[in-house]
Amino acid sequence: MKRDYLRVFDLDREEFLSLIEKARELKINRNISYCPLIGKSIGMIFEKPSTRTRVSFEVAIYQMGGHPVYLSPRELQLSRGETIKDTALVLSRYLDALVVRTFEHEKIEELAKWATIPVINALTDLHHPCQAMADTLTIFEKKGKFEGIKIAYVGDGNNVANSLIEAAALTGANITVATPSGYEPHKESIERAKKFTEVTIINNPFDAADDADVLYTDVWLSMGEEGNEDKKRKFKDFQINRDLLKKAKADAIVMHCLPAHRGEEITDEVLDGHQSVVLDQAENRLHTSKAILEFLLTQ
Ligand code: CP
Ligand code: NVA
Repeated sequence: MKRDYLRVFDLDREEFLSLIEKARELKINRNISYCPLIGKSIGMIFEKPSTRTRVSFEVAIYQMGGHPVYLSPRELQLSRGETIKDTALVLSRYLDALVVRTFEHEKIEELAKWATIPVINALTDLHHPCQAMADTLTIFEKKGKFEGIKIAYVGDGNNVANSLIEAAALTGANITVATPSGYEPHKESIERAKKFTEVTIINNPFDAADDADVLYTDVWLSMGEEGNEDKKRKFKDFQINRDLLKKAKADAIVMHCLPAHRGEEITDEVLDGHQSVVLDQAENRLHTSKAILEFLLTQ
């Protein structure tokens, strides 16, 4: 049966950790040609802008011998009202997998329900599971373990936060999330994650950062929320800056999925500082994309 990767919890702990290991292996052996996708075509539908996700998937598919087919919504009959169901059924007759970035998570679930090929979530309003896998690989590279690691996420309880919580759960790392009241992450992700690890949700960024090994943030306004000045105002105390970083462990790493809004959720000084690992995170999108593609397309 085909598998999808719409959220981190679509994988079990063993599968998730084996994909991290596979991505590490592919990264180390990056100069050795490895082409498990020869003859395969992978569609990429992006309803929102993307730099990292789109480019890393296109390059991953190319380097693995496959053919990426980029489909902007404007070029598809979807934009003229063709249903998700019909689109999924038809594209499944040509393609071997679909990588999809869209708004409502229900839309990708509907697509995956009708597609007979694997569907990979390249970001929805609710989840960003490919990002979380690259983040997990980065934490392992920098810290050498997951057990006993304390992740502090400061900012909006958004798609990135939800997927990070699910990833922390599968690795066994502890996670504390600090958001303004009313912007907490998705309840269902939190409740399921609590079955695996310690998840703490609070409203004080300094308490979250206290003794953290990993300090993570993301934009206050996600794609689709541009111009919501009222929301933005509520986040002014949820910035990763020099003072907040001082609360974390001396060897803490600073993470951000990017793109960053410099001077809002993170200062230039911290984003460009020696504790920042954001470029390694971005690079790891390539290696983890390969591991995800291989897992879903060659089993
Ligand atoms: N982190 C991330 O998903 O970046 P893009 O929006 O550039 O793909
Ligand atoms: N939360 C952000 C992540 C971008 C990669 C957004 O959805 O816009």
